[in-house]
Amino acid sequence: MTGHTKQEPRLAGGEDASLRGKVAIVTGASRGIGAAIALELAQAGVDSVIVARDEAMLNSVAERARSFGTRVEVVAGDLRNVETVSWTIDRALAAFQKIDILVNNAGATTRGHFLELPDSDWEDGFGLKFFGAMRLCRAAWPTLVQTSGSVVNIAGAGGRTPDIYFAIGSPVNAALNSFSKFLAELGIRDGVRVNCINPGLVRTDRLTKRLTLESRERRIDPAEMEYQLSRELRIARIGEPEDIAALVRFVLSDRGRLLQGAAIDADAGLTKTL
Ligand SMILES: NC(=O)c1ccc[n+]([C@@H]2O[C@H](COP(=O)([O-])OP(=O)(O)OC[C@H]3O[C@@H](n4cnc5c(N)ncnc54)[C@H](OP(=O)(O)O)[C@@H]3O)[C@@H](O)[C@H]2O)c1
Repeated sequence: MTGHTKQEPRLAGGEDASLRGKVAIVTGASRGIGAAIALELAQAGVDSVIVARDEAMLNSVAERARSFGTRVEVVAGDLRNVETVSWTIDRALAAFQKIDILVNNAGATTRGHFLELPDSDWEDGFGLKFFGAMRLCRAAWPTLVQTSGSVVNIAGAGGRTPDIYFAIGSPVNAALNSFSKFLAELGIRDGVRVNCINPGLVRTDRLTKRLTLESRERRIDPAEMEYQLSRELRIARIGEPEDIAALVRFVLSDRGRLLQGAAIDADAGLTKTL
């Protein structure tokens, strides 16, 4: 047990420099929450490997991240495939010789009516968000142990509060929370911090798609749909990707060092239960 008991003092003025010089892998970083996390970490002085399928979009995020003076490597690949996991680890070790941080954020579970969702959608949903994350954790673990590193898994509030169109996303997120809890236990022994964040509704392409579909069904415009959904779900607001990114930065920094195995609801009050 080493890393999570380290007591690095804060800088004068409240700045937390504990992330400076660390190396992160961030998945699903070509847009949305993952891109915001990559940029937030770059501002904190973290070098990174960013992963998703769309190379052009990854390059544009990488360029913005580099403007903060950090080094960024791009891996364009499909994380449902085992090879993308090994390419990602190999690229990180070749470029930076270590991995301190792993943020599993990539996810694309299909919404829809339970009876209309084919097996292939279930396999894709679990294949990317659960198996992709699990495989990356397993492949990165030996080097995370060496660096007393940290894992953050981005799951989702639907894991605890399903809706009727979230047949796949809900169990995927629940499984990722449970896996994170398990891995945190191993992390206590091995000196790796592991935590899980459950966003509620966050303004990204994924939410736009949902609003567009549901607004069509109800024959209202998407802005009205957003308002109606907020009221129906009884939430305080719709989140921005930067809200989740700021939380990830806190969890990963030494200020978050007491967090181990935490399942953090960042959902504007969507989760009503204890
Ligand atoms: N937005 C929300 O309201 C919300 C709520 C709860 C949880 N979440 C979770 O937060 C995470 C990010 O969501 P988001 O809203 O930012 O989604 P998004 O805007 O749709 O972005 C998803 C990211 O995952 C990548 N991705 C998708 N399929 C992939 C694959 N097969 N291999 C590798 N990368 C892949 C996408 O890049 P490419 O297409 O380039 O591959 C993209 O970078 C997801 O896990 C999501 O379930 C989001």
